[in-house]
Amino acid sequence: MAHVHIGGIGWNGFMAFGMIYWLVPRLYGTQLFSKKLANVHFWLGTLGIIFYAVPLYFAGFFQSMMWKQFTPDGFLVYKNFLDTLLEIKYAYWLRALGGSIYIVGVFIMIYNVWKTVRAGSLIANEEAEAPAMEKLAVANDGGHWHRWIERRPIQMLILSLVVVGIGGILEIVPTFLVKSNVPTIASVLPYTPLELHGRDIYVREGCYTCHSQMVRPFRSETERYGEYAKAGEFVYDHPFQWGSKRTGPDLLRVGGKYPNSWHYYHMWDPTSMSPGSLMPAYGHLFEDALDTTTTVKKIEAMRTLGVPYAKDFPAMANADLSAQSAVIVADLKKVGIDAMSDREIIAVIAYLQRVGTDIKAKAPVVANTQP
Ligand code: HEC
Repeated sequence: MAHVHIGGIGWNGFMAFGMIYWLVPRLYGTQLFSKKLANVHFWLGTLGIIFYAVPLYFAGFFQSMMWKQFTPDGFLVYKNFLDTLLEIKYAYWLRALGGSIYIVGVFIMIYNVWKTVRAGSLIANEEAEAPAMEKLAVANDGGHWHRWIERRPIQMLILSLVVVGIGGILEIVPTFLVKSNVPTIASVLPYTPLELHGRDIYVREGCYTCHSQMVRPFRSETERYGEYAKAGEFVYDHPFQWGSKRTGPDLLRVGGKYPNSWHYYHMWDPTSMSPGSLMPAYGHLFEDALDTTTTVKKIEAMRTLGVPYAKDFPAMANADLSAQSAVIVADLKKVGIDAMSDREIIAVIAYLQRVGTDIKAKAPVVANTQP
């Protein structure tokens, strides 16, 4: 994360700023309004990046080491994910500070550019001119033999395409020759219509920006989350929700971990279930009705992608959806929650309860056909 931010705001950002400072005065036939302000921008940007990225590196190493700590008896030291998050909360504040410094620099640039533009006038058209091309190539300058290839751009381009092409063909062709390179798991089944809606809400709300769904095959992960992720579990996930960042815990094995009511309260106000949580509240999911007019289209889209719903399933999808929401609402009622069955929250709960549970299903007892 820190590395990518240095790349994004340091490399790309500064490259863009440099180009703007170089181009704008030339486009407007004038000098930059203030070199001093440009220097101030440079130092603010640099300072901003340092404040932004260094705490991120620290937090990253710190938190991942906490995740991996075991007591001498073999238990996780930080069993509660939130404990490791609150430990690095200071880094979030420092990042906010770094980001603010950086953005102040950008505003200074905007002011500087605006003043520059005002001082000059746009050179809309300019006679193109260039010196005549000189023949620079020397027959043999005594370099390595491969200078022969490198000196000619077109030849170099064609030969490199051939080399890259060989690698590409070797990688791509085999995947077309096999039906699927992902081993399927018999107990992994397509989502129900309600779960499919919940999944789409999960995507819409950007839950994947804070939650991964990918338990890695390390003891520190399987102790915390459960069974590690298998490729065959994701065959009906279009698109998959592996994620790349864990501001919150991994959710692959969250299905069945809590009662429905826990999710109900948690989505309404995360701190009610997890004091100190940084997760936002999702009150609107309790107000907005689920748009069931799209159910059939969703199922059909999944069928196009190869999810094996029966051909006549889309027609009965909404009935299936209502039946499943009724079950969840009835379950919530048992603990005194009066939920409305047509709200988005019900779909989200259905999805969360399903995630990653299929491989836990007991294998059906198959008669032994061996002699
Ligand atoms: C800003 C980051 C962030 C976003 C966005 C976010 N969460 Fe979370 N989530 C967290 C954090 C941090 C925790 C751990 C503390 C807690 O339980 O609230 C958490 C915990 C959870 C848990 C409990 C996991 C467990 O094993 O205890 C669930 C379920 C969950 N989030 C679902 C969602 C859903 C669904 C969404 C999208 C609608 C979402 N989260 C969006 C940060 C986030």
